[in-house]
Formats: sequence, structure tokens, C-alpha cells
Amino acid sequence: MAQMQAKPERLPLPIEVEEAKSDKSDSGMENESVGEYEEDGFFDVDSLLEHNIPVEDIKQLKKVGINTIKGLQMCTSRSLATLKGFTPATVEKIKHACAIITNATTENCFMTGLEVSAQRRHIFQLTTGSKNINAILGGGIESMAITEVFGESRSGKTQLAHTLCVTAQLPNEAQEYQGGKVMFIDTESTFRPDRIKPIADRFELDSSGVLENILCARAYNSEQLYELLTSAGNVFHKDPGMFKLLIIDSIMAPFRVDFIGAGEMSERQTKLGLMLSKLQKMSEEYNIAVFLTNQITTDMSQPLTLLNNAEVKPIGGNVLAHATTTRMVLKRGQFQERIAKIYGSPNLEEQETKFDITLGGITDPKPQDE
Ligand SMILES: Nc1ncnc2c1ncn2[C@@H]1O[C@H](COP(=O)(O)OP(=O)(O)OP(=O)(O)O)[C@@H](O)[C@H]1O
Ligand SMILES: [Mg+2]
Repeated sequence: MAQMQAKPERLPLPIEVEEAKSDKSDSGMENESVGEYEEDGFFDVDSLLEHNIPVEDIKQLKKVGINTIKGLQMCTSRSLATLKGFTPATVEKIKHACAIITNATTENCFMTGLEVSAQRRHIFQLTTGSKNINAILGGGIESMAITEVFGESRSGKTQLAHTLCVTAQLPNEAQEYQGGKVMFIDTESTFRPDRIKPIADRFELDSSGVLENILCARAYNSEQLYELLTSAGNVFHKDPGMFKLLIIDSIMAPFRVDFIGAGEMSERQTKLGLMLSKLQKMSEEYNIAVFLTNQITTDMSQPLTLLNNAEVKPIGGNVLAHATTTRMVLKRGQFQERIAKIYGSPNLEEQETKFDITLGGITDPKPQDE
């Protein structure tokens, strides 16, 4: 399995914010995050010990990346029963213990809309570096959700991923979001630390500090990618509230290589579905934004003359379409202008806008270009 790089230790803040915060105690940010984490009902699976669940069973849960009671409740009894040494009686006992820990009863398992709204107050949005793109996304790349960006080669998907690696570490204007660490899972060998430096400079962040806060791992196949997600969950759990963004550049590349031809399509889609379900759960469990890049397919049934105007489609079929919260396509328009467009969204208007790629990352086009 691919190795994670060394764990980063500190979160750099923009120079002026760093100064303002310098008189805070060391415990400042981290303890705040842990407190918030517990307040939201995140209990460690270790709390099962108090309910007579053997330590060996808890070890098995952690081994597959189940670290919290919330994560455990997201699993079906059937999937838990496949764990080593787990009988249906063990699963029953664990589920019962979870209900006691979270004080779940048949009456209180529902929330009012107002309570849901209060719970969603922790959702944050990351800036893409372009106000235009933020606007069509309804603010930016949202946490507790999966955002997928697709487009032809050199359309700017990896550039956007690199920009987000930096902007995720910035507090937002309202100071409600303090910035956090990033996990970058690279399936195509596209992560370039050299690219981070000028982007960090643009936002007046110390580039070494920014790089320390990006954990990278290379996945060479879809199995390894799945295993890395389990490891990512363990890292998020160890450092509660510190990671804010998980990037996979790109999600479909390993699946395209591992499963070839129509005969393997069904297996591919099943494995992809399992992976996306894990990603969805992780985004909610750890309140992180999940950002996926994806490739496109061209409809070769179109006459050649129409191919240029044919609508590009993301690969991954309905499984990916249903799992993603927001999809955006990047493309080139006339005179090489760059266009971002919301694609098939259930809750966003399908608007398009222009953007630019500069040394400092994704940005808005200069006024004369618009
Ligand atoms: N420093 C820079 N300044 C301006 N433009 C840049 C810079 N670095 C890269 N680009 C532009 O970004 C584009 C490549 O974007 P990117 O690598 O994000 O493509 P992609 O959509 O990820 O493609 P692929 O599907 O092949 O991975 C190129 O057009 C390149 O000119
Ligand atoms: Mg790329």
C-alpha cells in the first residue's frame, strides 16, 4: 500500500492572522476543533469498551477505518457481519451499544428542520480562487459533499485541485472558517509541490508551511485507492477537525485501467459505488469537502462534423452521477477562453462563467478578457 507522507505539525495562517493569534495559548485551535467534534455527537469507537464490547472487536472496526460511532452507524449489519470474528449476535450487541451511546430512541431519531439547519452551521465553503466560479457554485466547494470537476485534457482540473490545496488553508472573510489541512490522493502522478509555491505566494502564505499541511499519497490502482481511503479516515480521526479537504485527482483513472471492456463494467460500477459510498460517509463523518476530478468521454456515434460541438460527458455513469452533490465541467470556449459550467445539478442553476489559469492558480479573467 502507498505510504502517507510524514504528518504535518502546524497550520500556517496568513501573516496578519498569525500575528493576531500569536497571543493565544498553544491549545487554541486544536482544542476548539475537538470540542466542536464531540458536541456534534462524534464518539470514538473506544467508547464501546464501556458497553462490554471486547477490545479485539474494536480493533477489527478500526482496521477497516471505522473509528467513530457515527461511522459505525453508517454501516449495515450485513457489512459488519463480514468482519473477522463478528457473528450476527456480535453485530446486534454493537448496534445496541451504539444506540445507548448516542441516546437514539425511536422518538428522538428525527430532527426538526430547524435542528437540521442548526446542525448544518458547521458546513463551510472553500474558495476556488475565482469569484466567478464561486458564484456559480453557490459560494464555493462545500463540505459534507462531493464536488466533481470534469473536462477534457488541459482544461484546468489539476490546476483547480492545486489552488484548493492552498485556499483550504485560508480562513474565510467572515472568520467562521479557520482553514485546515488537505489530503491529496494522486492517481495520475499530477501533484506538483513546485506549483503550490506561487499559489501560496499569491495568498501571502508561507509555502513550506502550506506544503507541510498537504498529505499526499499515490494510488496505482482502484484497490489501493480504496485502502488509502481507509487510511485517510484514520488520519482524519487522529487529528479531529484539522482536515478540511480530500482531493482525488482523478477518481476514474484507476478504474479505467483495472476494468476493461463491457464484460467488466458491472464489477467496475459495483466497486466504484462502494468507494463513493465510503467517500460520502467520510465527508459527513469528518465534515470535509471531497473534491474529485474526472475525465470525459466523447460520443463517437456523432458525425465527425458535430464532434466539436457535442456535449462532453463525464465517465463513471449513473453511479458517479448519483453520488456527487455538485458537478462542474471545465472547457475551452472561443479564443481559448476558459469556461466553467454547472452540470446536471439538482439544486444549482446550470450557469456558466469564465475563469483563467495563472501562475497564482485559478482566478477570474482580467476585465478586458471578459
Ligand atoms: N503556471 C501556469 N500559468 C498559466 N497557465 C498554466 C500554468 N500551469 C499550467 N497552466 C495551464 O493549465 C493547463 C493544464 O491544466 P491541468 O493540468 O489542470 O489540466 P487537466 O484538466 O488536469 O488535464 P488532464 O485531464 O490531462 O489531467 C494548461 O493549459 C496550462 O497551460
Ligand atoms: Mg489533470
